[in-house]
Amino acid sequence: MSPFRITRTLPEDASRAALRADVVAGLADRPRSLPPRWFYDARGSELFDRITRLPEYYPTRAEAEILTDRAGEIARASGARTLVELGSGSSEKTHHLLDAMPDLALYVPVDVSESALRGAGRELSGRRPELDVHAVVADFTGRLELPEGPGPRLVAFLGGTIGNLEPAERERFLRSVRELLSPGDALLLGTDLVKDERVLVRAYDDAAGVTAEFNRNVLRVVNRELSADFRPELFDHVAVWDPAAEWIEMRLRSREAQTVKIPTVDLVVDLAEGEEVRTEVSAKFRPERVREELGAVGMEVTHWWTDREGRFALSLGVVR
Ligand code: AVJ
Repeated sequence: MSPFRITRTLPEDASRAALRADVVAGLADRPRSLPPRWFYDARGSELFDRITRLPEYYPTRAEAEILTDRAGEIARASGARTLVELGSGSSEKTHHLLDAMPDLALYVPVDVSESALRGAGRELSGRRPELDVHAVVADFTGRLELPEGPGPRLVAFLGGTIGNLEPAERERFLRSVRELLSPGDALLLGTDLVKDERVLVRAYDDAAGVTAEFNRNVLRVVNRELSADFRPELFDHVAVWDPAAEWIEMRLRSREAQTVKIPTVDLVVDLAEGEEVRTEVSAKFRPERVREELGAVGMEVTHWWTDREGRFALSLGVVR
């Protein structure tokens, strides 16, 4: 048996309270919005899984290619003895990295899903029986506290999820990561890259309509958790590229004038025909931007790896 521990930093009801606050703040505001973190209930996670296998959605495959080809280089460049992974989910894509780190002493998967962490722990106890695993149930946008572990430490934040944060949130997040680290420790960051608009829009508006269902799923989550009466079928999925912000925006567009009631937060939302609710931004990066944003919080990009088609990047930011 490998040592597996789990720490919960979220109280059981934190999630519903946070959803309530987000719904009130986002739906009472104009333009209306809902933050993307609420997509991922069991059905949403399953839909996202299907998205990662769509022909149009290249980021997952592009990142996996980099991890497969470069795991050894990443391991050597970081020299990590402790690997922390934010938003680790099933830890599946981390296996390449873990396999390339035979001297790793501690792996700290961090995720909001306790069941995903327990599953990952079980899988790892088979693959790496000697590896110390200390899972943490936490929201990476909140205050992070991590178990002690031998340095150098490597924090991995993969998948391009940093793109879901707006610039101010991104800076706050990067600072909080920096504060967990000491000089010589590093961040391994996955970022999707700026590219042809048509390729980007297709990745977020697939022909099979899986992303559209994923988008509408947030309404089902609000219905279930807050007793709202959204009718998801009355919303069209919209994906647009914002060339100034360099991000994809997903929206839900009300097909007709309608009234939605959310009694548990005392909210009645009148939507006009064609009115949109923004549900996600997914920022795309240029290398200068990554260098600049990591530099601003005291990290130097020492390595930059892309897939063969140059669609996605992993960068290593080392704390100065
Ligand atoms: C999981 C946040 C990286 O922004 O590309 C996929 C989520 N949204 N299709 C992304 C997503 C629509 C995805 N991340």
